[in-house]
Amino acid sequence: MTARIDLRSDTVTLPAPAMRHAMATAEVGDDQYGEDPSVNRLQEEVSVLLGTEAALFLPTGTMTNQVALRTLTRPGDDVLVPTESHLVLHETGAGAANAGVQFSEIGHGGTFDADDVRTAIKPRGHLVYPPTSLLVVENTHNRGGGIVLVADTLRDALTVARENGLATYLDGARVLNAAIASGRPPAELTRGFDLVGMSLSKGLGAPAGSMLAGSSELIIRAHRYRRMAGGAMRQAGILAAAGSYALAHNIERLAEDHDNARLLADDLLLGDDIELDLSTVQTNIVVFRLVERRGVPDAATFVERCRERGVLVNQFGPRVVRAVTHLDVSADGCRAGAKVMRAVADGR
Ligand SMILES: Cc1ncc(COP(=O)(O)O)c(C=O)c1O
Repeated sequence: MTARIDLRSDTVTLPAPAMRHAMATAEVGDDQYGEDPSVNRLQEEVSVLLGTEAALFLPTGTMTNQVALRTLTRPGDDVLVPTESHLVLHETGAGAANAGVQFSEIGHGGTFDADDVRTAIKPRGHLVYPPTSLLVVENTHNRGGGIVLVADTLRDALTVARENGLATYLDGARVLNAAIASGRPPAELTRGFDLVGMSLSKGLGAPAGSMLAGSSELIIRAHRYRRMAGGAMRQAGILAAAGSYALAHNIERLAEDHDNARLLADDLLLGDDIELDLSTVQTNIVVFRLVERRGVPDAATFVERCRERGVLVNQFGPRVVRAVTHLDVSADGCRAGAKVMRAVADGR
């Protein structure tokens, strides 16, 4: 049995000693009075990084998405989302339960263009249509295999949204992966969005935390919905300090995760039991398919057999599996993981 190689998600990383030290020595105060210096510092750092007026610290990316929905929509509104978005598939129906919105999926494979937006918008003030009030983008797109959205396509889609009075939200849980992979500054990828979410507990390696960034006016409104969701914390500086540490040390190194994902994908393709589109392997996520052939297990069996051999991955569909690289898995770990996965796919 191989030592455990955990490729389920980039959320599984453990805080390194230096990060723990930053947390242990963080200056703290009551954040609900705005008195936590570590939270205030992190919020300032993130608004500079993402090019916004303000930013707000939240416990999770899911809450960040939910607070963004509450801030930018009203119950009964229609929200345009990419196919297979986190908001629709991974938040246990929270958008409907909390914000009372409905989702309309547009485009293919996690991306869409200006025409997709134009044709999907339902008019305001119509007798029967639900008004479309928000366009959501997910960059990188998780279930699309960590793809980075093309800047020009995105810009045109945002222009159509704005012309039609829609607000815009970037679920940028992994927007720094997108920035590193495309060589563009993060603030360029967030430009034109009303609100942006960004995770600290994925590739950046913090144990918890996520940011919502945008104009001062929207962030003040978001404060209320964070409180409503139960996400207003007190001496949260202990967590925020991990976020600041991660911003200072773990952004550039995301490139290593991207290289490892590519290496993993190349190795998975050495056999003929696994199919994947290498053009989607742009960041730290590898989504692949087990071919439909006698002897090749389905995804549930595959995941279980890999687990028995110490390699952890997630099932994404009946024959679809996701593996994610991160700072706690090395190139050698990826090679060893791919070897086990190839053997399991081959029925060995
Ligand atoms: C695109 C995207 N948005 C939001 C989230 C939610 O983050 P959290 O797990 O912190 O709730 C995730 C988590 O995987 C994600 O992939």
